Amino acid sequence: MKCNHLFNLLLIFTICLLTISPLSAAITGDCSNCHTMHDSQNGSATATFGAAGQPWTGTGPYRMLTKGDCLGCHGMGTANKIETLAGNSFPQVYHTDASGDLAGGNFAYITGAKGSGASDAKGHNVTDLGNSDNTLTGPPGYHGTPTDFGTTLNCSGARGCHGTRSGNSSASIKGAHHKNIDGQCDTADQIYNSYRFLNGVKGFENMGTYKWQNKDASNHNEYYGSNTPMTYDGTCTICHIAPIPTGGIKPSSNTISAFCGTCHRAFHVINQLDVTQGIGDDTASPFLRHPTDIVLPNSGEYANYNQGTSNQYSVETPVARTTVPSSISNTVTPGADAVMCLSCHVAHASNYADMLRWDYSAMVAGGGTNGTGCFTCHTSKDDGS
Ligand code: HEC
Ligand code: HEC
Ligand code: HEC
Ligand code: HEC
Ligand code: HEC
Ligand code: HEC
Repeated sequence: MKCNHLFNLLLIFTICLLTISPLSAAITGDCSNCHTMHDSQNGSATATFGAAGQPWTGTGPYRMLTKGDCLGCHGMGTANKIETLAGNSFPQVYHTDASGDLAGGNFAYITGAKGSGASDAKGHNVTDLGNSDNTLTGPPGYHGTPTDFGTTLNCSGARGCHGTRSGNSSASIKGAHHKNIDGQCDTADQIYNSYRFLNGVKGFENMGTYKWQNKDASNHNEYYGSNTPMTYDGTCTICHIAPIPTGGIKPSSNTISAFCGTCHRAFHVINQLDVTQGIGDDTASPFLRHPTDIVLPNSGEYANYNQGTSNQYSVETPVARTTVPSSISNTVTPGADAVMCLSCHVAHASNYADMLRWDYSAMVAGGGTNGTGCFTCHTSKDDGS
């Protein structure tokens, strides 16, 4: 009897522990899979990941004694979107895998290593690619002139996206890999507990069979959005962390669209100082630029999101959730879920102009393509229904 009781208590305790412990995915495996102590073996420099045949032919030594830089480990240029080496899985952002890309997209569309031909307009020309954008001189919609920012766009560090967004690329992300928290990221006050190491961004990371992927309605990341975009009233700290400008950058609203808006401010904010520099002066139509971080109305054409599917979540045209979910949901709720930058764009690069998720020139009113791209939300604009 007593024994049973103790067993039950233990069982409950274990279940509690399993339920409350954060969904951690800290790195496991031999140090030597990823690190080299002196960048030297038998008197020669240690081979680095992704060195052979890549545009960024890397040579060490690298900070934090890693065997490669960001693209060395994440852009090996193979035909696998997830590369497995000595028991570790390395998510790839530059590859030729015909079975698809990870959620962020694939920088190989920019160089033409994959897709319908090279084009700078297909993505973010990160400096590490060694192929800067020939058209854009900085982020369109930037809070200075785009040239104040310039064409240097790094994976992390100052003028970068991942990490603290200050200092050099390694200092910006230091410590995040070994502490990485997967699944629900609803704290986002450190790099390791932020969505995909994006400072201050919340979300839910798909960690199932299709980890890192937006595969189908039931297997995808969940993005965080809001019912109001960031409002700019002259306060610098909606983006900057003191001291300005070296303290780093994070979006004060913690949403993925506000993250994009830290560099593309005019495309996201409600700007109280100059209304022409935002989406308009409130969250109601008519707008000046396509809104993000506003809720899909539960009326009119929007109530039919993904027409004919009972509002099934579309990975071709995803939406953001206005509370950080603790699991993946396969439906969209007009009236609660929000339109975001990533409803139309990918984060790294796609096979389409303007980094879009689909071919904009195929969005033809009356063209009979209802259910795709813009029509996923604007369900009446194909047939005028
Ligand atoms: C699967 C790859 C991988 C393996 C295996 C790995 N590391 Fe790392 N480690 C990294 C990366 C990437 C960084 C640099 C980026 C960062 O800090 O987020 C890093 C950073 C570090 C740092 C500096 C930052 C910090 O977290 O303190 C130390 C120290 C470190 N590793 C020690 C180790 C030791 C010791 C082992 C073996 C027990 C090991 N690592 C195994 C990938 C790995
Ligand atoms: C030595 C190899 C190595 C280097 C160098 C490295 N990474 Fe990683 N990175 C990994 C591995 C392995 C994982 C997968 C960890 C896991 O399974 O959660 C990872 C995961 C990530 C993730 C996804 C985290 C998540 O939420 O699942 C991001 C973002 C990332 N790395 C960014 C970077 C950036 C930016 C750099 C350069 C500053 C970098 N990495 C350098 C090996 C590396
Ligand atoms: C750290 C600053 C920064 C952040 C954050 C950022 N961008 Fe950009 N973006 C740039 C720069 C710089 C360019 C111009 C250079 C280029 O396209 O490579 C650009 C260009 C673009 C382009 C045009 C691509 C082209 O070449 O025509 C799109 C679309 C875009 N960004 C969307 C986004 C989205 C969506 C997000 C959020 C997921 C985002 N950006 C976040 C800096 C940023
Ligand atoms: C919408 C977001 C946002 C707001 C609001 C904002 N900034 Fe910035 N600011 C940025 C980003 C992004 C950078 C680029 C930082 C980097 O990656 O190097 C930047 C860079 C800077 C720099 C460095 C200039 C340079 O070229 O490196 C200064 C100085 C600066 N901001 C001042 C301010 C001041 C002062 C305010 C308030 C009046 C302000 N910013 C408001 C996003 C913002
Ligand atoms: C994820 C859903 C979604 C997608 C995808 C989408 N929109 Fe929208 N769109 C909205 C919402 C929500 C509004 C604002 C509705 C409101 O409040 O009246 C809007 C408004 C608009 C407006 C009217 C702005 C105004 O002032 O009322 C136009 C025009 C528009 N969208 C065009 C497009 C085009 C073109 C595409 C494809 C490139 C597109 N949208 C894709 C959700 C979406
Ligand atoms: C409704 C779909 C949709 C949403 C949402 C959306 N975009 Fe776009 N974006 C487009 C389309 C379509 C283009 C192509 C040019 C055009 O029609 O303005 C574009 C072009 C761009 C460009 C290139 C501009 C240039 O000068 O070449 C940037 C940068 C950009 N978007 C950033 C963003 C950011 C940042 C967000 C979120 C704050 C966002 N977009 C939200 C559809 C969208």
